Amino acid sequence: MRKPFIAGNWKMYKTPVEAAAFVRELKDSLKDVSGVDVAVCPPFPALWPVKEALEGSDIALGAQNMHFEKEGAFTGEVSPAMLQDLGVKYVILGHSERRACFGETDELINQKIKAAFTWGLNPIFCVGETLEERERGITKAVVEIQVLKGLAEVTAEQAENLTIAYEPVWAIGTGKTATPEDAQEVCRFIRELLVNLFGKEIAEKVRIQYGGSVKPENIKELIVQPDIDGALVGGASLKVDSFTAIVKGSI
Ligand code: G3H
Repeated sequence: MRKPFIAGNWKMYKTPVEAAAFVRELKDSLKDVSGVDVAVCPPFPALWPVKEALEGSDIALGAQNMHFEKEGAFTGEVSPAMLQDLGVKYVILGHSERRACFGETDELINQKIKAAFTWGLNPIFCVGETLEERERGITKAVVEIQVLKGLAEVTAEQAENLTIAYEPVWAIGTGKTATPEDAQEVCRFIRELLVNLFGKEIAEKVRIQYGGSVKPENIKELIVQPDIDGALVGGASLKVDSFTAIVKGSI
């Protein structure tokens, strides 16, 4: 009942010229594919050329981060108003690399999520535990805090446009994927939290992606899990063949 959603997080890869050439090829590769929502999230300088190259395609544009203010003296930052003006539909918020490398807190991520909704952008809100937290048996406690703090003051109406990406930090870029059963267990837990926050009807509409070493070989076993509705793909989204195979494997 939830349409699969595959998003490519390119991280800090591809120049604007490379990005435009890539999506022209991707557009062609995915032209006959339906029944799945697809987004690409290039680095900021590539958003405009990618938007132009995507003309006439159903592939949506996403950003990887944003500030929560509309404008201001925030050197080096990009605002939700700018993303909205560019035609960006999704914005990844709370990615573990933002948390770990740039010190983003749950409180800051919450401000960004609320700002995204205010500006009509759909957040892809990332949560997930580190290896140490998993080994200590506190995965659910960690994810619960991230979800509750990240979604504080978000309304049920806004939550309809929310995507959550469950990304165990130890599975990102490592080649290690959570087993489908482990990933499902946490995604099911996240949906239970959403039921408590927004009610069953809304919680059943929110798409929960799995992220962490998703590749053509494992997408099928992940997507058949009842609470996994897609994937946030890093490394394998940088090649047309592997990203296309993941998109097709999700249907
Ligand atoms: O946002 C994407 C995730 O960080 C996963 O990256 O597919 O390279 O492991 P990965």
